[in-house]
Amino acid sequence: MIHRAIIPAAGYGIRNLPVTKSIPKEMFPIAGRPTIEYIVEEAILAGIEEILIVLSRNKNEIMNYFDRSIELECILSARGKDYLIPKITPPKVRIHYIRQHEALGLGHAVLLGQSFAGNEPFAVLLPDQVSLQRTSMLIPLIKTFDNFSTNVIGLQHVKTELLKNYGVVSAKRIKQRVFDIESIVEKPEINPPSNLALMGRYILKSEIFELLKETRPGQGGEIQLTDALSKICSTSGMIGYAYKERWYDTSIDLDYLKIQQQAIHMNL
Ligand code: UTP
Repeated sequence: MIHRAIIPAAGYGIRNLPVTKSIPKEMFPIAGRPTIEYIVEEAILAGIEEILIVLSRNKNEIMNYFDRSIELECILSARGKDYLIPKITPPKVRIHYIRQHEALGLGHAVLLGQSFAGNEPFAVLLPDQVSLQRTSMLIPLIKTFDNFSTNVIGLQHVKTELLKNYGVVSAKRIKQRVFDIESIVEKPEINPPSNLALMGRYILKSEIFELLKETRPGQGGEIQLTDALSKICSTSGMIGYAYKERWYDTSIDLDYLKIQQQAIHMNL
């Protein structure tokens, strides 16, 4: 069982400027609800009991959103609109927050979760990768972790011309959808080792923290989670689970547009 999840949400959101100057991309709405709420729900549906959200100082809206608004509840009651209260009620999960003072990289953000995770395996969910499935996309990763007792990452088949935007794995197929990962290359400009890219969902053992501490800034001067994951492939091993479901990246305008249409179509 995996009880804890980390959601790193302290990045600058440079690709989505200027709006991300004041609105965190995790708060971009999808059918009237912020993107991060879909991520929190995905975690809850997979049995996660505690969540740590990594924030930066201009992301207080995320904390406010998951807090109770007694004033608004009273106003809704007074106006006979109690039926709207469940919509504004915080999710039933313990949410903790930690500040990343400087966006030193995704690896650094995950490392801030060390004392939260302790010695237990934990999940990481990137909040800009969203799937609108009605069942949690974390569940197959947790099942794979239970089967193999080692680190698991979510993968997706990506068109060759787009692979340069992702971490790409070199892997051997073990069975349908399940791969033994040999190595990971971050955003390969040429010769990607496969068409399987990392999809922003991870189940990691606590030993990743020691590897993250040793990881020096890599691509973009940031401490990359991928660099520590590459090392772990050759120590305790890494299994990939290839999703067949559609994922959307809310940092990409066209994907963001498509997810809105899909959410409305699904009546979410
Ligand atoms: P991204 O690579 O998408 O970075 O990070 P970003 O800052 O959100 O967006 P761009 O690339 O500047 O446009 C993936 C996830 O990791 C978090 C981000 O908030 C995002 O959810 N992250 C990234 C951190 O929490 N801290 C960091 O230092 C870097």
